[in-house]
Amino acid sequence: MKCFRAAILRFDADHNAVYEQDGLLAVGPDAIGREIVQAVGSYNEIANQFPGVAVEHMPGRIIAPGFVDMHVHYPQIDVIGSPASGLLPWLENYTFPQESRYADAGHSAEAATFFFDELLRNGVTTALTFATSHPASVDAFFSEAARRRLRMISGKVLQDRHSPDGVRDQTQQSLLDTEALIQRWHGQGRLGYAISPRFAPSCTDAQLRGAGELAARYPDVWIQSHVAENKDEVAWARSLFPQARSYLAVYDGFGLMRQRAVYAHCIHFDDNDRALMRDTGAAAAVSPTSNLFLGSGFFDYAGADRVGFRYGLASDVGGGTSLCPFHTMLAAYYVGREGHTKSGLSLSPRQLWWQHTAGAARALGLDGVVGNLQPGCEADFIVLNPQATPLLARRTQSADSLDELLFAMIVLGDDRLVQCSVIADYGPGYAGGTQTAAISTV
Ligand code: GUN
Ligand code: ZN
Repeated sequence: MKCFRAAILRFDADHNAVYEQDGLLAVGPDAIGREIVQAVGSYNEIANQFPGVAVEHMPGRIIAPGFVDMHVHYPQIDVIGSPASGLLPWLENYTFPQESRYADAGHSAEAATFFFDELLRNGVTTALTFATSHPASVDAFFSEAARRRLRMISGKVLQDRHSPDGVRDQTQQSLLDTEALIQRWHGQGRLGYAISPRFAPSCTDAQLRGAGELAARYPDVWIQSHVAENKDEVAWARSLFPQARSYLAVYDGFGLMRQRAVYAHCIHFDDNDRALMRDTGAAAAVSPTSNLFLGSGFFDYAGADRVGFRYGLASDVGGGTSLCPFHTMLAAYYVGREGHTKSGLSLSPRQLWWQHTAGAARALGLDGVVGNLQPGCEADFIVLNPQATPLLARRTQSADSLDELLFAMIVLGDDRLVQCSVIADYGPGYAGGTQTAAISTV
């Protein structure tokens, strides 16, 4: 058992933020040795439940759930900041050439190591991640995630048409590779596999059909893809699948919409698309920095809430400009501010934070597993230092409410605000949780 004393942020079942100014977080093994939150609450009220347990005291620090990134491409770490007139030229000119390098296992391993270092430096402890079409890129990702005992999800990209040499795969082989990778990695420790058709325009009917068959055969595996991101892309998809009611309906027709199916962007939707998301249990990965950078459009929060489908926040690096959750939450605030919420007001800081932690976990089907610090959750957490910069120290000091404090961190925060990410132990064979830096309050 380990105990940490600091301010603590978490979320209750109604998505409300719960904040203890002087809190205690107790973490320890469950019945099979996996390190979970055993207790959390006010220090004065619960400290006496843990006599004799050493307490790591971190005055001035805030313990919060590790962030959950619902959609990111680890092989696009070198694509960030590549300007283009829109999605399709961006893919052609920057993204596909970079991704072709991941045929090489050594390059994949080096990039995966760098990617996880960056994620953890930014306080992201779980991510649903695209690899590339090369199985080596998936093996590199999962090997490194396993070494660090992280809860991570990824999969081999499927793209057997409209893709250049170097990233285009072969229909039958791509499906065989996918199944082999599911069997190798899904459910190993905290790893999960995602069947990953890149987007409908890059996949033949046969490949999409095969992906849907795998999704039916492996119902607890994830599915991830892109949809309705950009107007040219939507027009292209519609011309390729003229019989489908909409771009989104193409995926439904191939059995690719269900719980644990996550679609990035979901911008150019009508209410029938929104109802299809709701009725199938699929979730949207809202990617505001990417949508702003590539000029794709604005996610309609009011429409999503009116119809009632699940969504959460995502960086979408390398279309996205940053892995930093504070930057993503601020961009989501700007988008909401432009009138894309029901109230006309933008999202509150608590809503933004929830959408990048417990809400994102819920949208992934990992409710109560990660993204929160309620008892029973896996003990992945971050330590925030609101004194990390002079301006952060000054502004957070004068915050009069939780909303003001969270807002100050969303607006002013970057990787310096994250003192460290602490990763849970995960039982025998997986023992010895990692953290990015020693916990130290000096
Ligand atoms: N659509 C198909 N592939 C991609 C990708 O890599 N990034 C984004 N943002 N959209 C896509
Ligand atoms: Zn993407």
